[in-house]
Amino acid sequence: MKLDAKTERSLISEARKAAAKAYSPFSKVEVGAAILTSDGQVFSGCNVENSSYGLSICAERTAAVKAVSAGSRSFSAVAVVSNLEELTYPCGACRQFLSEFGIDMVVIVASGKGEVTYHRLGELLPEAFRLEK
Ligand code: THU
Repeated sequence: MKLDAKTERSLISEARKAAAKAYSPFSKVEVGAAILTSDGQVFSGCNVENSSYGLSICAERTAAVKAVSAGSRSFSAVAVVSNLEELTYPCGACRQFLSEFGIDMVVIVASGKGEVTYHRLGELLPEAFRLEK
């Protein structure tokens, strides 16, 4: 399930760069995500909060929207990092959102301490709601 070491390192590094751009004055949680598309492109994104809290968007969805709006609809992996000590797994909404573009994508979650975990998105979102395309 693992990606090759170089690809993994570069995805995590892109996610960290994105986290540094987080706009999170309310929670102070800085999240970065980097998506690898099936054709080898990388799109990253950060969380963007809003004074009207419910409008805030997570890093994973920022990255996914960037990828799709650039023409990519098939994702093979996503790396997620944050400024928290513990591993930051994609929230439920992001799992559902990402599943549209690859239920088999590898979800890499890396902590600041160097711990790295791997899952298939389908494991993190069992019995996902999906419609025929
Ligand atoms: N956040 C993400 O960006 N991704 C997740 O999967 C979990 C949470 C953000 C949303 C909010 O800006 C901050 O983390 C605290 O919840």
